[in-house]
Amino acid sequence: MPQRSFKQIKEQFAGYVIGNYSRNPVAFVRGEGSYVWDSEGNRYVDLMPGWGTTTIGHCHPRVISAIQRQCARLIHVDNTFYNEPQGLLAEQISRHSFGGRCFFCNSGAEAVEAAIKLARLHGQQEGRFKIISMKDSFHGRTFAAITATGQDKYHKGYLPLLPGFTHVPFNDLRAVEEALDEKTCAVMLEPIQGEGGVNVADGDYIRALRELCDRNGVLLILDEVQTGVGRTGRWFGYEHYGVEPDIMTLAKALGGGFPMGAMVASEKVSRSLAPGTHASTFGGSPLACAASLAVFEAIEQENLLERCREASEYIFSRLNAAAQNYDVIKEVRGRGLMIGIELTIPGKAVFDYCLKNFVRINCTHETVLRLLPSMNVPQEALEQGLDVLEEGIRKAQSSAL
Ligand SMILES: Cc1ncc(COP(=O)(O)O)c(C=O)c1O
Repeated sequence: MPQRSFKQIKEQFAGYVIGNYSRNPVAFVRGEGSYVWDSEGNRYVDLMPGWGTTTIGHCHPRVISAIQRQCARLIHVDNTFYNEPQGLLAEQISRHSFGGRCFFCNSGAEAVEAAIKLARLHGQQEGRFKIISMKDSFHGRTFAAITATGQDKYHKGYLPLLPGFTHVPFNDLRAVEEALDEKTCAVMLEPIQGEGGVNVADGDYIRALRELCDRNGVLLILDEVQTGVGRTGRWFGYEHYGVEPDIMTLAKALGGGFPMGAMVASEKVSRSLAPGTHASTFGGSPLACAASLAVFEAIEQENLLERCREASEYIFSRLNAAAQNYDVIKEVRGRGLMIGIELTIPGKAVFDYCLKNFVRINCTHETVLRLLPSMNVPQEALEQGLDVLEEGIRKAQSSAL
């Protein structure tokens, strides 16, 4: 198939694709590691690969060959039968986390949906159905997930939402204590709020939440859709806190770019998800699981957790130094390769400058520049990307004066 120009691609979208996304004026056609190429042949440094999905880089050779091999053998089989890759992957996830059991689906929102359904099923005998989640959280776009999401902009036009949800400020234990009652079945939060501005949960807060949940017979759900599978320099974000959740949700990095989601629950809690209570036609297909197994193999065999921590140190040292030079940088925060740069001015101009200069970043919550580079990002790409980013911040600062 001949390569279409950007103009042709855009025209086709205008005619046939629903306009629910505001898209940047670029069509990517190829990716390799931390680089992507557009339809006009330009190469970009990708510091936000696949919105955090391609944590081991675009088109990782292990993922390619796992998909190719599995594709030729068996693409899909439904969950009324067993399939070998699903069991192998569940074992990998369980052994690398808290020894739980897995339910597979295809996205983060579906994993969150499964977690909410499981929490309600688990609590139903005691009449527990309420869920406490956090302000500024993001849990996805299905109905239960937007209800759990603590940002009004995602609720607009969809009222009334599901009953039984309360949002409390993040990192505020007292607010959870006040909201919790005998009808609460779960507290849900992200270890680091991603879309909400890269806000890191305090250690004391998470540990106290764990104790609070235990004392009150309430489940602790950690949404690790963005923090999971190596993003923070450990396999899972909760490991930084020395506590374990009852339920964890995963997606994004899990499939190395292939659509894949999972909900992991402790063995005891998982028993509430009995046959017939929940399902997904595509969830845990041999193909998705083969891709995901390749991600686990790559992280282990290529020491990617260590590489993630090294790259993180370099980025934080550069950005903290930049914060000394540019007053518009209010704070640099995050963990591992989940990094937020909060500005005192809107970040859109910096985002636009980077894109024009072939560096892909993200701007969330208007003023927070977000980077989610891959764990194996080469030093050269990082230097090039950060040079452009700093120049963008410098220009934004001088035009804001
Ligand atoms: C923490 C968190 N949960 C859930 C989701 C929803 O994931 P998906 O877009 O795959 O449904 C996201 C997506 O950004 C997320 O960051």
